[in-house]
Amino acid sequence: MSLLARVEKSLVTHVEAASGRGAPPRLLAAMQHAVFSGGARIRPQLCLAVSMACGDNAPELSDAAGVALELMHCASLVHDDMPAFDNADLRRGRPTVHKAYGEPLALLTGDALIVMAYQVLTNASKAHPHRLGPLMHNMSQGVGLPSGIVAGQAWECETKADLALYQRAKTGALFVAATCAGALACGSDPTPWAALGANLGEAYQVADDIRDVILSAELLGKPAGQDELHHRPSVANDLGLNGAIHHFQRLIDQAADSVPPCTCKDMLQQLVRLEAQRLIPAASYEACLKQAPKATLATQH
Ligand code: IPE
Ligand code: IPE
Ligand code: MG
Ligand code: MG
Repeated sequence: MSLLARVEKSLVTHVEAASGRGAPPRLLAAMQHAVFSGGARIRPQLCLAVSMACGDNAPELSDAAGVALELMHCASLVHDDMPAFDNADLRRGRPTVHKAYGEPLALLTGDALIVMAYQVLTNASKAHPHRLGPLMHNMSQGVGLPSGIVAGQAWECETKADLALYQRAKTGALFVAATCAGALACGSDPTPWAALGANLGEAYQVADDIRDVILSAELLGKPAGQDELHHRPSVANDLGLNGAIHHFQRLIDQAADSVPPCTCKDMLQQLVRLEAQRLIPAASYEACLKQAPKATLATQH
């Protein structure tokens, strides 16, 4: 089974089990809308790939760790799209949760997904109770303070923000949590895996900044030109398009180089390269560097 198929299967199983019976139907529908809408699932795939490199000795716990991180990611997107943040109408090519279900349910959907993430981890840890604490701590670091997603989003409410710090918190921290969770679920030391998550996560946000400038909403599946519209710190703005693309390539090289020695090194390096190619196709570098007009890249969101 491919990593993606394994992620999708465990997402369905865990969300159903953790939803229980008798919850308000519109909240459940909004949560389904938020989670099962065609996301790339890069964070849980990364988590599973690292678990495989560490022996995959507790596959159900690794699956749950990946699911929990994806639920956190989906929650962050629901809240990020709300009028109080980016006020976006489109996500993954569909109406955002607050557009489809209204603001109160969007707020609650994000909250419920965050709680569900911890619930999924707890339920799956029964066979390995000593691994639960480190996994909880790791996920909290990726999402909370001082430098997880919440902190990253909060830098947008400050008058000044360091661009790298902002991006590492907003996006990089959950990638670090993903690689480290893959090791922790196997009872392995996460330390050697942090650099891979950090480099790939930073590259991912740099790519997001580039794609925001060069692609159309149709290709992105979400509104384009948002960083300029909301005056957000952006690498494309700071370094220019050429500089941002070179920075992206450097970070991808660093990510591939930071895969520690293991039996799955080739597979992990290939995952990094494939992801880079998906985000900004190599064949399109030249077009990008010539400041191609929007919607010329043959890519998917
Ligand atoms: C979007 O993340 C938000 C960023 C951190 C750039 P993804 O690009 O992973 O979004 P989905 O999950 O595939 O929709
Ligand atoms: C994404 O922030 C990171 C989150 C914490 C949700 P952005 O606002 O830059 O991401 P998109 O472009 O809406 O996916
Ligand atoms: Mg945002
Ligand atoms: Mg946004």
